[in-house]
Amino acid sequence: MRILITAGPTREAIDPVRYISNRSSGRMGYALAAQAHARGHEVLLVSGPVGIVSPEGCEKVAVESAQEMFDAVERLVDGCEAVVMSAAVADYAPVHPQRQKIKKSADDLVLELAKTRDILAAMRGEFKFKGLLVGFAAETENMRGNALEKMRGKGCDLVVANDVSRSDIGFDSEYNAVIIFGADGSEQIVSRQLKQDVAISILAAMESAAAK
Ligand code: CTP
Repeated sequence: MRILITAGPTREAIDPVRYISNRSSGRMGYALAAQAHARGHEVLLVSGPVGIVSPEGCEKVAVESAQEMFDAVERLVDGCEAVVMSAAVADYAPVHPQRQKIKKSADDLVLELAKTRDILAAMRGEFKFKGLLVGFAAETENMRGNALEKMRGKGCDLVVANDVSRSDIGFDSEYNAVIIFGADGSEQIVSRQLKQDVAISILAAMESAAAK
């Protein structure tokens, strides 16, 4: 399959030197890219800013903001048979990023934020993507309920849910533990292991869903 994978965090500019971002390291998405390539898939990696080495054999497009990631996915999705959205896209971005560095003057500074566009939600609607769609659900509570709601709301075939409140897995960690929910009602628990091994389980689930 030709697989497009989004990975890493996005950065939303406040001014030329400051931004809003999150703790995503990109490791889960990069592990997926590396393992997908190892299994013979063609990989297109759309990545936010990360501090890890790019996986070999994958085509990589670097982006910064949620809007740039949205535009890159829209431009590149044509011809892909599967899309995996593992990126931790910022949900809100500053409405008026400043051209000059904000000087320290007033005691309080209020930033006005507006919702970014949801890339995963645009896949079935705006982008008319017909292939296999895999979303991630980063949750701190009600994993199952929230994951299933994201699956329905965003038209996914699979949703990979992870508990981001645990410090021994997920953000910034080499390890992850997930539940892979299928639109057919299936549920696969993947216990704590290296992200490269979690990636193998996710890819196996994708390959079997694509074969159906
Ligand atoms: N996502 C996206 N574009 C956004 C926000 C999220 O493509 N602007 C994708 C993520 O890559 C992930 C899925 O949507 O695959 C779910 O992301 P998550 O942060 O768990 O949930 P949200 O939909 O943002 O909702 P909430 O933060 O309220 O849980």
